[in-house]
Amino acid sequence: MGHIETKSLLTRGFNGNTPELLNRADEAYCDFVSGARNLLMYAQFQNIGKLGEAELDQAAKATGHRPNSPDAIKALVMKVPEVATYFRVKRTLQESYWRRIAESYGLKQREFEQALAEADQMGPGSVTYDPNFVYPAYATIDIHVQPGGYTGQRLGALTYDYGTKIFFGGAGDADSLHHSMAEKTSAPKDGVVKRVMEIGCSIGQMACGLKKRFPNAEVWGTDIGAPMVRYAHWRTIQQGLDVLYAQMPAEDLDFPDNHFDIVTAHLLFHEIPVPVIKRILAEAKRVLRPGGVFVLWDFFSAKNRSGATNFMGLMDASDNGEPFAPGFVNCDVEALMEQAGFKLRSHDPQELGRTGRVGDKPI
Ligand SMILES: C[S@@+](CC[C@H](N)C(=O)[O-])C[C@H]1O[C@@H](n2cnc3c(N)ncnc32)[C@H](O)[C@@H]1O
Repeated sequence: MGHIETKSLLTRGFNGNTPELLNRADEAYCDFVSGARNLLMYAQFQNIGKLGEAELDQAAKATGHRPNSPDAIKALVMKVPEVATYFRVKRTLQESYWRRIAESYGLKQREFEQALAEADQMGPGSVTYDPNFVYPAYATIDIHVQPGGYTGQRLGALTYDYGTKIFFGGAGDADSLHHSMAEKTSAPKDGVVKRVMEIGCSIGQMACGLKKRFPNAEVWGTDIGAPMVRYAHWRTIQQGLDVLYAQMPAEDLDFPDNHFDIVTAHLLFHEIPVPVIKRILAEAKRVLRPGGVFVLWDFFSAKNRSGATNFMGLMDASDNGEPFAPGFVNCDVEALMEQAGFKLRSHDPQELGRTGRVGDKPI
């Protein structure tokens, strides 16, 4: 087979930076799922949260004990018909979009695999990965109910790309969400930014945003999943950006001490066990130079969430295939960052929402 031209592979072009599905019927199906999901969630999220919370209040009054594990909560609130229907419909919509997306791209499985293999050798930027990498168990689950998760399917990252477009209900199209966060990413107080890294970079949306924000810096995207960094590199080449990708567990970074000016983690921590989070914080501190900054964007800690939001979050952990999220929201990550040696710029929940959790490595 000859060289794969992107134009002949993607006859329907891109939707932002995301390859369009391979035929109109698949796109229309996914538009329907996306619209139904938006309708369900935007219209009902608050109401379902309140109904579930009321059920938990009642149980607490009756028994003197308020369940707080996802399984115990689920067993109780699923007795409320509106709540059960909401979560059943949400889950079915999610299962159906993963299947349809994978089927659509799967029509050109061989060609996509060849395009990724060609991109491995091309620039701008680069990618490195280890075909014999042995994944820790926590990195092999079907996260978000995606068959194969981040690591188990060769085209898993491509499927994930279109899946997150649906998951964010269009709000992140053309990488707008990631790029606006990259714009807001806090810099070291002395303003010196020569090297930046996004850990758990997935398909490279944030890393590309960081490259645009800091065009003269060396920007790295690292991720535990080989399918993720390979696809991130292909996707970044399409944008003509120079980003360096590497398969690398964030808890074991292959970089020298005091190397980076900024390390960011976006939506990584709620997907991994707390002992691994502690190791990642120690590694982030090690590879940052004195005065460097660690920026963590993720779910609010339980102490900063309302009861109803906390309830919906715990349900999501169970229903959206995120088994480590409850551990994260309850681990007091702000305290863990401080124990790791970072000085937090703010503890104010409003501020954390605007800037993420920003920790300076002391000079
Ligand atoms: C929800 S995605 C977040 C992606 C990205 N940061 C973003 O903003 O779109 C989580 C990513 O973290 C990666 N990951 C999970 N555990 C990891 C670890 N220990 N080290 C590095 N990456 C990890 C997964 O492979 C996945 O690509």
